[in-house]
This record gives sequence, structure tokens and C-alpha cells, in this order.
Amino acid sequence: MKHTPRCLFIINPDMEQSCVNSREENLNTNRHLGTFVTSTDWAVLVEENGKTYVVEMNDKQLKVKGLGVFNPHQTLMETPIGGTVIIGQKELKRVPARLPELSRGMARRAQTIGSKDAGFFVARLGLGPGDSVLEAGLGSGGLAMHIQRVLGTEGSHVTVEPRSEHSEVALENLRRIIACWDQTPHHHHIEGTIEESIADIQEVADGFHAIVLDLPEHPSAIEATADLLLPGGRLACYCPVSSQLERAWEACEAAGLTVEWAGEMMEREWGRASKGGMRPVNGPFGHTAFLLVAQRT
Ligand SMILES: C[S@@+](CC[C@H](N)C(=O)[O-])C[C@H]1O[C@@H](n2cnc3c(N)ncnc32)[C@H](O)[C@@H]1O
Repeated sequence: MKHTPRCLFIINPDMEQSCVNSREENLNTNRHLGTFVTSTDWAVLVEENGKTYVVEMNDKQLKVKGLGVFNPHQTLMETPIGGTVIIGQKELKRVPARLPELSRGMARRAQTIGSKDAGFFVARLGLGPGDSVLEAGLGSGGLAMHIQRVLGTEGSHVTVEPRSEHSEVALENLRRIIACWDQTPHHHHIEGTIEESIADIQEVADGFHAIVLDLPEHPSAIEATADLLLPGGRLACYCPVSSQLERAWEACEAAGLTVEWAGEMMEREWGRASKGGMRPVNGPFGHTAFLLVAQRT
């Protein structure tokens, strides 16, 4: 793997600057509260109902959606992790910047992959420290945050996204985790479709342990990327509808990959019943997507 600078953004120079700065100059991890999860650059605030806000600790008046206008640095600098603060009418608890909180409070634009399916991908792709992962499309970076949580400092993450209005949101989410966590992988982002980015990808990586495709047209993306898998490496597809799953399966086989698993993850939450006991909570028992994992054997 050719390692790039720790975080290379192609989108806009300001973002690249702030990413590098927050990683190498401003990051100040408060280790006695637990490693990798506390930053003096960012505060994570949670309402009693679980609504989560991720706030940059700037020393100026800022409008934070849902909280109104306030100076985060002055308002929060005396609030320790575990402490509470009143902002407007809301009582908020300051918590460490761990993956569930940063994921709940993330900036969003494109539909995101959440913990149910991201956890499956991390486990079934066998992701861990030092791995190299290719991900397209990046979207809002929901899955990317989960991937970056496990790759460690020696890992490598290459992301591809054609729509800059999506990747700007995703790169903001990744900027936050780089500031908050001490062990994020080398990251290289490429603007473009996956099909037209193969040469750029090969400039920065010799091959991948895993490839994840969450985009509308899987066959052309599978055909373009299958040869980038290292021997034994796995490719995963996220397919909201069953016709996509079938076409992804066929494209994997045509590309010489062996489909290892295809199906759907179901998650059913339970809660306390008002008259005692536990029961499934009211609310949607929804479909997210069909998942497919194929291996280069
Ligand atoms: C549903 S979003 C991905 C969400 C992302 N997995 C997350 O968790 O936030 C799908 C993304 O694929 C991108 N996309 C569409 N066609 C693509 C292609 N050919 N190559 C790369 N990305 C593509 C879209 O612009 C969109 O941002």
C-alpha cells in the first residue's frame, strides 16, 4: 500500500488545512477519560431524549441547528465530560466523542449506512488494523466513520464520490473523527465515479483487502474494481432493492469472485412495557438494504 498523507482531501484547500491542523496541531486528547474519544476541539452534547449535537469549540458566536446561537468555547469550556450545561431551554449532558455519538450527531445529506449494516460489513469483511479499504460512493460518510474506527494508524482508506455536495458533508464528518480519535487510518479521497477513477486509485494503492460499493449501479463498479482486490480480499455491495442484489451477484460471478453471503440484517428493538415486562417497541421494523459479500478466492 502506498501511504498518502494521513488525510488528503481533493475538495477544497480550506478543508484540507483544517483537517491536517486538527490532527497534528490542535488535537489534545484527554487520556484519563479514555483514549481516543475526547477532544478539546469538539464537544458532544446529548439531550435526555438521545438527540445528539456535535459542536466545534470555536470562540465565536455560532448557530448550531437545534441549539440556537451561542459561543461554544465560552459556553462549554468549563463543562467536563459527564457534566451538564443549559443552552437555551435545553439541558444537555457532555459525553465522550465515541462512534455511536458521532454517528448519531453526524452531518447528513445522502442516505447513510447505520450501525446495523456497517457492523455486519466490518465483521464479514474482517476489517482490522493495517487493512486497506476502498469505498464508493462515500455519500455522507456514515459507513466511512465505522470503517475508520477499526483500521488503526497503519490502515488505509480510499474513498470515491462523484458529487461534491455529498463528499463535503462526508469529509466534514471525517474531519471530526480525525480530531476526536487518536488512531485513524491514512485517508485519500477521489472525486469522480468509481468507474472513471481506477487509474487514480492505482496511483495510491497496490490493492485492497476489502471494497465496499454503496451506489445505484453495482455491475459496472464491480467490473471496474474486482481486479483491485488482493487474493482472499472481499467485496461487499449494499443494495436497497432485490433487483440490484441479483445483478450484483451476477456481476461478482462474471468478475471471477465467489459470493460468500447475500441477505438482509434484521434488527428488532425491545423496551419496557408500560404495565411491566419487556416487548418489541412500537415503531418501524424497517428494511434498509440487501447485503452481499463476495471473495476473491
Ligand atoms: C447512498 S449514498 C452512500 C452513503 C454512504 N454509504 C454512507 O453511509 O453515508 C450513494 C452515493 O453513491 C454515489 N455514487 C453514485 N454513482 C456512483 C459511482 N458510479 N461511483 C461512485 N459513487 C457513486 C452517489 O453520489 C451517492 O453519494
